[in-house]
Amino acid sequence: MPVPNIIAIDGPAASGKSTLGKRLADALGYLFFDTGVMYRAVTWAALQRGIPIEDEAEVTRLAETAQIDVRPPSRDDGRACDVLVDGVDCTWETRRPEVDANVSPVSAYPGVRRALAAQQRRIGLRGRVVMVGRDIGTVVLPEADLKIYLDASPEERARRRYREILGRGGQANYEEILAGVRRRDEIDSTRAVAPLRPAEDAIILDSDCLNADEVFARVEALCR
Ligand code: DC
Repeated sequence: MPVPNIIAIDGPAASGKSTLGKRLADALGYLFFDTGVMYRAVTWAALQRGIPIEDEAEVTRLAETAQIDVRPPSRDDGRACDVLVDGVDCTWETRRPEVDANVSPVSAYPGVRRALAAQQRRIGLRGRVVMVGRDIGTVVLPEADLKIYLDASPEERARRRYREILGRGGQANYEEILAGVRRRDEIDSTRAVAPLRPAEDAIILDSDCLNADEVFARVEALCR
């Protein structure tokens, strides 16, 4: 079997998709594209510009008109890529708690999804890509050669987020993080457009009982 040209990795927040995707892309010499950063960039820009998150028309207009760039990392500060909105680097700002708290409603707006998914599809169809998100295998690139759905329990995912924040020197409350993970799961999987779910032909991996190395080894074996 040839190495898959387009690889889609979907799954809930903090399931380890980005870690797996980046590592796989590096191993194959492919582009790594984390589509969540685009939804985060629109959310950050809306907050920054004082656009109320509940104003669907304005937030959609922003998604349609803002120039969102996702580029290879320009700095060695732990980032997987640079994220720019209209030329302004907002890579770390898109990880702030205000963005975490508002990104799910933004990503539920059909017009926002249409605008961002079209850009993602254009990039994905060039091939030699590992694209990570919620709807890559189902909506953005249903023709992907390999589809992985990476799952983990809310408790395990909250634990990982908690450790990650402490590791960056930040402060965190586990119970609050767990509540946030559950809230986002609920919105992401019940929204009308492109809800979070595995594609019918996706391979489902549960990372509760597999560490990052084991997940990577399984997926790499599927590729080669
Ligand atoms: O993976 P993440 O936590 O960075 O994603 C941020 C938000 O964007 C999350 O609420 C789900 C949404 N998202 C989406 O709806 N579709 C994608 N392809 C990627 C992310």
